[in-house]
Amino acid sequence: MSRDREQGTPVRARVCPGGPLLLRGADEVVDADGRAHEVTRPVVAVCLCGATGRAPWCDGTHARIRGAAPGRS
Ligand code: FES
Repeated sequence: MSRDREQGTPVRARVCPGGPLLLRGADEVVDADGRAHEVTRPVVAVCLCGATGRAPWCDGTHARIRGAAPGRS
């Protein structure tokens, strides 16, 4: 259980369309390989596009991918 949940503050998640998942109040993120990553910030961005260079965190690559998609300008 997270520290914040133990203190009664819920972890909040918000999906950014075409971008990351923003987590507020989490103390750990477990990636697809089962590795735990400590969260040291109040809010972190978790990559949902799979193209980040520093998984599991969003590094902004999603914006370049979206900009390069056919039919987008
Ligand atoms: S969501 Fe931002 S790099 Fe994947």
